[in-house]
Amino acid sequence: MVQQLSVQELSVQQSDIITSLETVRDFQRWAVSRFREHGLYFGHGTDNPWDEAGILLMHALHLPAGGDPRFLDAKLTVQEKRAVLALLEKRIQSRLPAPYLTGEAWFAGLPFSIDERVLIPRSPLAELIEKYFEPWLPQVPQSILDLCTGSGCIGIACAYAFEDAQVVLSDISPDALEVARLNIERHELAEQVRAVESDLFSGLAGERFDLIVSNPPYVDERDYREMPAEYHHEPALALASGHDGLDFTRRLLHEAADHLTDNGILIVEVGNSWVALEEAFPELPFTWLELERGGHGVFLLHRDDLPVQAQSAVN
Ligand SMILES: C[S@@+](CC[C@H](N)C(=O)[O-])C[C@H]1O[C@@H](n2cnc3c(N)ncnc32)[C@H](O)[C@@H]1O
Repeated sequence: MVQQLSVQELSVQQSDIITSLETVRDFQRWAVSRFREHGLYFGHGTDNPWDEAGILLMHALHLPAGGDPRFLDAKLTVQEKRAVLALLEKRIQSRLPAPYLTGEAWFAGLPFSIDERVLIPRSPLAELIEKYFEPWLPQVPQSILDLCTGSGCIGIACAYAFEDAQVVLSDISPDALEVARLNIERHELAEQVRAVESDLFSGLAGERFDLIVSNPPYVDERDYREMPAEYHHEPALALASGHDGLDFTRRLLHEAADHLTDNGILIVEVGNSWVALEEAFPELPFTWLELERGGHGVFLLHRDDLPVQAQSAVN
């Protein structure tokens, strides 16, 4: 049972911490104890309290992200100690994952500006992009769609990987697209990447792509209800997708062929919903891609594998 302290007790506790703890290492250790005491969850770029605390400490101290060990034994000023304590306290009380508190997340080795309008980037698709999707693409893609783009992380990472491709980032959420546009600007990719508001393909009529890549909402009702508090700060629209998590993916599979070029490829992350997907579409020859850095449920389909609407087959 976590103890509730009065304001007076809190300020006594804070002055005790300020006099007892001296170094970055002291504060990082103390944060690990408090995070564990309060049962925080780590699934947004870190998987343990030490790393989560490190990110917050580096941010509060205006030190470079990455936890340079040379800083561990450096002493903090009283003002710095107060700033660190305030941020750690916010992490504990609000349950906001660290990237929402720092405003930044890393994906495929690239920094992205983020806030609560978008999902925190963490898709295992990063690994595949870094490997240029080898050996899966029949040709170097000239046109790429990042469907359900959120912060824009997948499409922007693809733009770096495939410099000659034109990339579209699409999302149903105008709020998310504002963040995606900030990231296009941050990475100076306005010539190569554009953002489009679109419910599935509604805003992309007549457009076809060599590669459609997507991390759509795919969490089923039960998993969504049971997710730790940290996940409930992310937009529900980014996670939940109906009873079995497949509402979006069902629509996607029926419409994707109309937006792929002849040799086009569809690569989609569905996580835990892969079992329900296999059951729902036994006729589709899903290739489930291997992920060396963890994660699961990423499938690949060729345009030819997908149902084609007769009136819009490629001429
Ligand atoms: C799981 S998040 C992925 C964000 C980003 N691609 C990433 O990997 O971090 C799913 C995104 O899909 C968007 N979305 C939900 N329903 C959609 C729809 N019908 N059409 C287009 N985008 C949709 C949400 O707004 C959200 O940004």
